[in-house]
Amino acid sequence: MSNQTIETILNRRSVRSFTNQPVSVQDISLIVEAGLYAPSARNRQNWHFTVVTNPEMIEKMHQLTLQGMEQRGLKVDEKDHTFYHAPLVIVVSSLIEGFAEFNAGCAIENMAIAAKSLGIDSCIIGQTRFMYSQTNKVDVNLMLKVPFEYEHDCSICFGYAKGEYPVAKERKAGVVDYIR
Ligand SMILES: Cc1cc2nc3c(=O)[nH]c(=O)nc-3n(C[C@H](O)[C@H](O)[C@H](O)COP(=O)(O)O)c2cc1C
Repeated sequence: MSNQTIETILNRRSVRSFTNQPVSVQDISLIVEAGLYAPSARNRQNWHFTVVTNPEMIEKMHQLTLQGMEQRGLKVDEKDHTFYHAPLVIVVSSLIEGFAEFNAGCAIENMAIAAKSLGIDSCIIGQTRFMYSQTNKVDVNLMLKVPFEYEHDCSICFGYAKGEYPVAKERKAGVVDYIR
């Protein structure tokens, strides 16, 4: 049996090398719409997406992430870019209330799968949380237009894969039980 949705889910990989080809405005809208149509507990839709294509802002977020990691004494590999030079980053934040982070996760995965279906690859970036532990106390929420009482969850970068496509890592065994 061939099923396009299942194929897309199984073939999505976290990509860490991108060309500089931008993602079109139309495709960005479709990706964002897929995020907005994710399920949410009690239909709260309590997420916020900051869609960043401005290269200076992407670089600023990268620098703040690095500073935060250094501040925490974490190893920073200078050759790694936080967003792997992807041309599009969506920063996901959510209201500080029950299940909001979970809802944000549903939205992020919807966006990753929608992008993959359009031939666009992605990588979820949890490291951007370190933007909030930098010494240079920039008001990150203000900078990223995050609404009052919302908190940063994760980011996801998108673009066109460069080089060899990653092979799926082995999936853990023994994590599923059936009760029939
Ligand atoms: C919540 C979350 C945070 C992640 N943060 C990062 C990150 O900061 N940098 C990165 O390169 N990959 C990050 N990843 C990607 C994972 O490393 C990746 O999903 C995992 O290795 C499995 O590979 P696959 O997505 O190709 O199946 C993150 C994934 C998730 C779900």
